[in-house]
Amino acid sequence: MKVAVIGSGVMGSGIAEVFAIYKNEVLLYDKYEEAIKKGLTNIKWSLEKLSEKKRINETPESILTRIQIIRSLEEVKGSELVIEAVPEDFNLKVSIFKEVEKNVDYSTMIATNTSSLPITELSMALNKRERFLGLHFFNPPVLMGLVEVIKGNYTSSEVFEKGIEIVKSIKKEPIPVRKDVIGFVVNRILFRVFTSACKLVSEGKYTVQEVDSAAKYTLGFPMGIFELLDYTGIDTNYLISKEVKSRGFDFECPLINDLYTKGYLGTKVKKGFYDWSAGRPIIQKTSREPSPSEILGDAIDEAVWLIKNNVSTEDEINKATKLGLGWPKGILEYAKEINYV
Ligand code: 3HC
Repeated sequence: MKVAVIGSGVMGSGIAEVFAIYKNEVLLYDKYEEAIKKGLTNIKWSLEKLSEKKRINETPESILTRIQIIRSLEEVKGSELVIEAVPEDFNLKVSIFKEVEKNVDYSTMIATNTSSLPITELSMALNKRERFLGLHFFNPPVLMGLVEVIKGNYTSSEVFEKGIEIVKSIKKEPIPVRKDVIGFVVNRILFRVFTSACKLVSEGKYTVQEVDSAAKYTLGFPMGIFELLDYTGIDTNYLISKEVKSRGFDFECPLINDLYTKGYLGTKVKKGFYDWSAGRPIIQKTSREPSPSEILGDAIDEAVWLIKNNVSTEDEINKATKLGLGWPKGILEYAKEINYV
């Protein structure tokens, strides 16, 4: 299949890499030359790592031949699927969809990797709205096993089903999101975790290290919560919190706003909640920690809301939180374990 990926940042380059690994012909676009260079460097580094670990059965060079850089949106012509992965800016995304639609065939599917913007609202920019859907990947796309497939009000059933098949073809687990709610499934839960963790620190109850100690050593998360905020990007989380807040979903963290203002954008600039200049921060086990329900309580309530509102099922939510976030247990499995009702 010929797939065009718009945006060569962390997510766009990772998505391009995944499609190329599974033998698709990939076109990768970014407006900025610097972003293209950085994206290609990320892809090469990642393919080398996968090759060292024998997780790919082709050489990185051979996979890279399937990624072609394009410098104009006119060149998306002939793609069967276009995936947008630019920053969380509504107007920017909309302008791209309009430009893309001018250049593709009637049958081309157009997808967004948005973390927080409603699919229906974004689709309004298109003439043919039924071709549009959400394909939400998790960072790093090449290692995380989940993609949320989101149906907007206008997405046709055929396009939605095809989205699910495409996700399977790149060996990821598709989780259908049946209603176009803010943050879909995983991010709604994750934003509650972020907000609870931020509150615990900004209200002076615990330190960043104590919260991350609980996340890593008591809950078994692969990263601390503040480490993950750095990893996914302080700027990304800042933009997301503004977008979702303006649509009535409360993801609030004064600590993020403060770091954003200072330009401490996380892993990408080697400084955020942690100092990344010597690589991944080392999180120590602390003697004092918040309890699992202090961290997960609001997120569990959110998962229950998703079930009650027929957005997703208990099994899907558990699977999604395990595969999308690398947690050893699903959110509702934690709820049972800690007797949180
Ligand atoms: N490609 C290839 N290899 C990679 C890689 C990549 N992109 N990223 C990391 N690796 C490699 C590392 O270099 C390391 O290799 P080494 O053993 O040779 O040193 C190996 O993978 C293992 O990495 P680490 O030792 O750093 O650590 P982990 O075992 O913890 O694995 C991880 C890394 C998979 C990122 C894991 O920490 C994890 O699952 N973290 C949680 C990530 C997460 O929650 N993602 C979702 C965020 S939310 C989101 O994206 C949605 C958006 O809308 C906000």
